[in-house]
Amino acid sequence: MSQRAHPDIEKVLISEDEIKSKIVELAAEITEDYGDAGVLLVGVLKGAFVFMADLARSLSIPIDFDFMAVSSYGTATKSSGVVRILKDLDYEVTGRHVLLVEDIIDSGLTISYLLRYLKARRPASLEICSLLWKQGQQPVPFEVKYTGFVIPSVFVVGYGLDFAERYRNLPYIGVLRLEAYGGESPH
Ligand code: IMP
Ligand code: MG
Repeated sequence: MSQRAHPDIEKVLISEDEIKSKIVELAAEITEDYGDAGVLLVGVLKGAFVFMADLARSLSIPIDFDFMAVSSYGTATKSSGVVRILKDLDYEVTGRHVLLVEDIIDSGLTISYLLRYLKARRPASLEICSLLWKQGQQPVPFEVKYTGFVIPSVFVVGYGLDFAERYRNLPYIGVLRLEAYGGESPH
């Protein structure tokens, strides 16, 4: 489907079709790895909600859903690594196979925190599935088992990702025009 980008978007980095086929690939790997044992998907709100909805609908193994909401202190475009839990898990994860679903790994600080937090609850297994991974950052101290796309170090929006809570509903991943940032400069 051809699409006209939102006027605030400088360029579409990953199209709707590219996202769709990547999700089919990721879902095939996840299906193969977990099989009938199934998996508990834990989405990190809010960014992961669009990705998780599409990923889940491509999986035909038994899945349960849970969500965590965190806020990281920092500016709108840079996380500080200090994470506050706004919404904890609804389910007990002890003994469960847990797959943490994220929209993007940038510094890796948010995921590092969540991994420590979840590991303390003794899941049977704990893996990460992130749609995006920004390159050019320091190496992260954990393994990302399922990665959609490695992207350059630019600030992106769409498909769940926001700038100041906007643009989450765009069906593609795009780079914002500088003017759209207002006062805050992207990295
Ligand atoms: P990290 O802790 O630096 O890995 O940052 C991860 C979180 O920062 C993500 O869950 C996003 O909410 C946010 N984030 C990082 N980079 C971007 C971006 O390019 N666009 C939108 N949000 C981002
Ligand atoms: Mg955000």
